[in-house]
Amino acid sequence: MDKSVTMDKIVSLCKRRGFIFQSSEVYGGLANAWDYGPLGVELKRNVKNAWWKSVVHERDDMVGLDASILMHPQTWKASGHADNFTDTLVDCKKCKKRFRVDQIGNKCPHCGAKDFTEGRAFNLMLKTHLGAMTDSSSEVFFRPETAQGIFVNFRNVLDATSRKLPFGIAQIGKAFRNEVTAGNFTFRMREFEQMEIEYFVLPEEAKASHKEWIDARFQWYQNLGIKKENLKLRKHGKEELAHYAQGCTDIEYNFPFGWSELEGIANRTDFDLKQHSEFSGTDLRYHDKVTNKKFYPYVIEPSGGVDRATLAFLVDAYHEEEVEGRLRVVLRLSRELAPIKVAVLPLLKKNTEVVALAKKLKADLIKVFPTVYDDTASIGKLYRRQDEVGTFFCVTVDVNSLEDKKVTVRFRDTMQQDRVAVDKLKIYLTEKFSN
Ligand code: GAP
Repeated sequence: MDKSVTMDKIVSLCKRRGFIFQSSEVYGGLANAWDYGPLGVELKRNVKNAWWKSVVHERDDMVGLDASILMHPQTWKASGHADNFTDTLVDCKKCKKRFRVDQIGNKCPHCGAKDFTEGRAFNLMLKTHLGAMTDSSSEVFFRPETAQGIFVNFRNVLDATSRKLPFGIAQIGKAFRNEVTAGNFTFRMREFEQMEIEYFVLPEEAKASHKEWIDARFQWYQNLGIKKENLKLRKHGKEELAHYAQGCTDIEYNFPFGWSELEGIANRTDFDLKQHSEFSGTDLRYHDKVTNKKFYPYVIEPSGGVDRATLAFLVDAYHEEEVEGRLRVVLRLSRELAPIKVAVLPLLKKNTEVVALAKKLKADLIKVFPTVYDDTASIGKLYRRQDEVGTFFCVTVDVNSLEDKKVTVRFRDTMQQDRVAVDKLKIYLTEKFSN
């Protein structure tokens, strides 16, 4: 990890340039909740689109789903979340602060005392009520993972698509956890987004498929620009495995606060389909029409966090350098992820012809690339602003452009400038983007 990248710098850039704001900031903020600003929403959408393209559109064995957040309460009994999705908490008897038992060592991280209450299981699911009654009969939970929406729709997808094993279902959506210790910016939140795949396979093929998915997902982060040395795989020990998993490997990223999980790829066996069959009375077995056998497929689950991936892409892209004695901050986001691909900047905003040409170019380019027009500062400041948000190209229109019908194109990473004919600009940029 580049030592010049600190979380303070990332948080400050995110606020300054409109990537991420604290939720409800005008009221003093809500702990561990964050809002994506004008550029953050574009970046996060690019992350989700890149994932969807790679795991749904580019594969013949995958389909998508968008299930509801609120589900039948029995779902969580069957999945085991009602009983097992807990953290063990203790209270410090001196300062009354509450901690996860695995975080205290033998003394209170707040006041140093060594006297704690007995550990108590604390369920991480957030609860609400549906309808007019607020008793236990109306209790529902905000899903703590998107996965269960896929399992309960297994039969529907199978019937609607006539899929044969192996095949998978992908979903992106919000998940909620009443995390006790949150923190590290958007790394651990109470409301976050997951991108999850449930990939259904013959039981005897689960091991090989697990390995294939680990490799594919590890490569995906690199394809989108994360440096290999900042990624690693970590296999879970037996004691660490979730109640449903036979094996799990995490993809970890070297954040400024240390190596931490981006995504887990688990072998969930046939646990979930069996449980939902038993609890719902609906047969969720797969019928192999060739052998005429019915059985529960095994499930390989690559489960990543949209917010964590977005944060890792931001951290990895952050770069500082000295240019002519001044600090230049540049976000080296990949072409797929950069929120703005082209910024059109008029050199003289008082010259109406220059402004008109710049606006015309913006209107033309936006049909092909996410493009902005900006005339709110001097050209030096505008370049710096675009570098800081990762804009790939700046196109500058000056008075000469009116005569020679050419504009200056500046590339973010090298700051190299080319003079390009206006009528060739789209072709020039398209070629640059496909290189
Ligand atoms: N369906 C399996 C599952 O939910 P998980 O390891 O608990 O597994 C999967 O979560 C991914 O979701 C994590 O790797 C992480 O990227 C993301 N995630 C989990 N809890 C999160 C939180 N509190 N804030 C942000 N992302 C979170």
